[in-house]
Amino acid sequence: MSVHSARRSKVTHLELRKMKEQGERIAMLTAYDYSFARLCDQAGTDILLVGDSLGMVIQGQKNTLPVTMEHMIYHCQAVARSVEAASGRAMVVGDLPFMSYQSDLDEAMRNAGRLIKEGQAEAVKLEGGAEYAELVSKLVRVGIPVMGHIGLTPQSLHALGGFKVQGRDDLAAQKLRSDALALAEAGCFSLVLEGIPQELGAEITESLAIPTIGIGAGPECDGQVLVIYDLLGMNEEFRPRFVKRYENFAVRIRTAIDSYVGEVRSGAFPGPEHSFSRTEKSKDRPRAVAVGGVVAESEGGPLESVGVGCIPLRPPGHKS
Ligand code: KIV
Repeated sequence: MSVHSARRSKVTHLELRKMKEQGERIAMLTAYDYSFARLCDQAGTDILLVGDSLGMVIQGQKNTLPVTMEHMIYHCQAVARSVEAASGRAMVVGDLPFMSYQSDLDEAMRNAGRLIKEGQAEAVKLEGGAEYAELVSKLVRVGIPVMGHIGLTPQSLHALGGFKVQGRDDLAAQKLRSDALALAEAGCFSLVLEGIPQELGAEITESLAIPTIGIGAGPECDGQVLVIYDLLGMNEEFRPRFVKRYENFAVRIRTAIDSYVGEVRSGAFPGPEHSFSRTEKSKDRPRAVAVGGVVAESEGGPLESVGVGCIPLRPPGHKS
């Protein structure tokens, strides 16, 4: 368990507000599947956003517009299941996809409800400003916590004329300030600020009682969010200024796979240590239980070296 997560219990909107009041920064990441969500939760991430960015990084779409409610529910379920099986601490937020909430209030309510009820998310996120204040207050009234998202809102990419920094001129900055206020007054528990000048990010953060989460909005936001694949360096061609790469997984993963392919071709894998024999009885062999409950058998050697995929195994009865 990470030292970052050891000191706090379940993250709720109340906990996030307390963090802002106490000047504690909030760490949010996107997550789309069981394995990554588990690692994010174990490492102490406060909020896991099942973002519609999955359209780009998982599905290979040009933008987030083709993502559907069904896609979102499927990925929310995997992430929620994962957090529950890990520490259960991180808050799971599900993104409302394009045209699931823009055209009709009742449809928007139903779709937000589906992310909570079917997707097992604990809150929803929607892109847009004051025009969604009525929807936000209705959702909050029925018990659905809402995270707002203003600035560079990818679902409005065509209207914005591309993925461009927003709020650089006075008029646009003033519009973002009043959108932020309207969403906070409507009951949003938090607000994502994307692709805006850092001075504006600081100003909006200072003006609101609810925490702001920045992505390309400067260091003064109450928290930060990144797309997990970006921070891990999964796509070598994608190098926007707002992303810090903490790993170079594109190279590391390709190298590992290259070794595997080479060993399969040469016959070096599987070796005797990865194979079973008819003459040995399985009950004589050490057994190990994976953290996820998968039972494996070891042909000998230290149990720590046995693994199912990337899941470390531990002996039965072992208490972590
Ligand atoms: O969809 C997403 O991943 C997002 C974050 C980048 C804020 O909206």
